[in-house]
Amino acid sequence: MQIRYSVDYADISRKAALIIAAQVQIKPHSVLGLATGSTPIGTYKELIRFHHEEDLDFSKVKSVNLDEYYGLGPDHEQSYHYFMRQNFFDHINIHLENTHVPDGLTADVSKTCAEYDAMVASLGGTDIQLLGIGDNGHIAFNEPHSFFFANTHLVDLNEETIKANARFFASENEVPRQAITMGMRSILSAKLILLLASGPKKAAAIGQMIHGPVDPQLPASILQLHPNVMVIADREALALA
Ligand code: F6R
Repeated sequence: MQIRYSVDYADISRKAALIIAAQVQIKPHSVLGLATGSTPIGTYKELIRFHHEEDLDFSKVKSVNLDEYYGLGPDHEQSYHYFMRQNFFDHINIHLENTHVPDGLTADVSKTCAEYDAMVASLGGTDIQLLGIGDNGHIAFNEPHSFFFANTHLVDLNEETIKANARFFASENEVPRQAITMGMRSILSAKLILLLASGPKKAAAIGQMIHGPVDPQLPASILQLHPNVMVIADREALALA
């Protein structure tokens, strides 16, 4: 695991965006694994800037997102479909048909999940997988106690995650209780994993991810077994690393 210290959130975002931009320049048909949440927003802003100011071209890029709330449609303002359009896709020249986010309104969850894994496999896995980390060490919505090698599946969000995500909703009651999440198998099929973390709330999870045992209680600890992980984080997030 390679650790890259950053001075602040802007520095994390710049470093991550530079790596993703280089990937897209070297391989225009790259498959990018993307995340939502607060952490990657600065990275998306930098990539949008590179698109406008440096002609970074996303026209051949394909993308695969980690997760979606179960029960939210693409036009719901808190859905991850909506988030991705608003924070990234609508501002670059990626073709929307080349972007993939799990269908939160599916009537057939197991079919949707199986098709999502098959789609990721058919793309050859992701070239870069961008990840945030939950305060409890989750990645995507693979919560503590999850079996490490689940495929894409429907998951019950735990109380900690519901509380952490309530800031995006009018009240905690409105946070969906379930999500469709990519499983560890697809996440770990990435050639490079870029995990970003900022702020003191992430310190315990980051410390355990790096130094703790590989244990499903701290889902991100599985990344110790991946050959190509780069953690880009500020000093607060790395305080216990
Ligand atoms: C988002 C995702 C989540 C977040 C994590 C951290 O697609 O899969 O695992 O990365 O909850 O969220 P933030 O960045 O809001 O702290």
